Amino acid sequence: MSIVIENLTKRYGSLTAVDSLSIEVEKGEIFGLLGPNGAGKTTTLSMLCCIIEPTSGSAKINGFDIRAQKQQVRRSIGIVFQQPSVDDLLTARENLQLHCMLYGVEQAVRQKRIEEAFSLVELEERADDLVKTYSGGMRKRLEIARALIHRPAVLFLDEPTTGLDPQTREHMWGYIERLAQEIQMTVVLTTHYMEEADALADRVCIIDHGKKIALETPSKLKAQMGGDVVYVQAKSIDEKKVRALPFVRGIEKKDGRFAITMKDAGKNLQKLLGKAGAVESVDVRPASLNDVFIKYTGKSIREEEAAGDYWTRVANVNKND
Ligand SMILES: Nc1ncnc2c1ncn2[C@@H]1O[C@H](COP(=O)(O)OP(=O)(O)O)[C@@H](O)[C@H]1O
Ligand SMILES: [Mg+2]
Repeated sequence: MSIVIENLTKRYGSLTAVDSLSIEVEKGEIFGLLGPNGAGKTTTLSMLCCIIEPTSGSAKINGFDIRAQKQQVRRSIGIVFQQPSVDDLLTARENLQLHCMLYGVEQAVRQKRIEEAFSLVELEERADDLVKTYSGGMRKRLEIARALIHRPAVLFLDEPTTGLDPQTREHMWGYIERLAQEIQMTVVLTTHYMEEADALADRVCIIDHGKKIALETPSKLKAQMGGDVVYVQAKSIDEKKVRALPFVRGIEKKDGRFAITMKDAGKNLQKLLGKAGAVESVDVRPASLNDVFIKYTGKSIREEEAAGDYWTRVANVNKND
């Protein structure tokens, strides 16, 4: 087992940021920690990386205890957190050389490690440019390259694609997949993007308010939803009749739309509409991780994400004043 987390808890006064979390991650797995803003993702990673002390509970990384063997834990991990931490005034190569020195990477292998890292994130051509000339996506790739230099057993990525444009984000997914495939590295990434967890992670732990609400492979999570989701725009529907249909798994109401989870929408849609009453429009989708999140929390992860981004923007605007 690459990571074993047992009842890990972090309290800030009366707020429980991480609430008795237990997770096991296998070697070579890409593991996604998925949840809205404030769910406790960064706090969890910070405890696992020995940046903050847990209030209670324990965890082992690569066999080392995060309380009693901090030094060994730190040597076993690579970290890419949200705040950029590469030095702008150095070139990319100088940044990696500095990291080699800090981590005591042997002189004999330094050059090779640096080249490999640049190649993995496709930055070879820009290796000798100053980091201040880099785009946001390139900086993130450089941070990943740097985190690989000391060959950690586990790489922690905190929201690796937040703030990147959609195209750069998909490229980034490719790099992360290569880490797991080519170096057999265990990767733990946090994200509030459902598609990201779905596309990248072998298994996903969905958390909300610091609590684990589901832990499975994305496909099993979606399969648990029991099929497709039909969005029905209507003032009202006959919920009782719809629920009574044998293929209907559940109904959630949101913004005047009804999200009806059902088996085999292609085959059963007509029967559904026959019972629903006056319907304005219909939209059918296969179940997504967002539907899983709604099922467990009663709300959409996107609303939270949007609210979070809004407040971050307000804070940034004020900061710039
Ligand atoms: N140093 C701190 N002091 C007080 N509360 C904190 C601190 N750090 C995080 N929190 C709170 O803990 C909760 C989880 O935060 P965080 O782990 O950053 O969430 P996420 O990374 O999922 O967005 C939030 O409610 C946040 O406000
Ligand atoms: Mg965070």
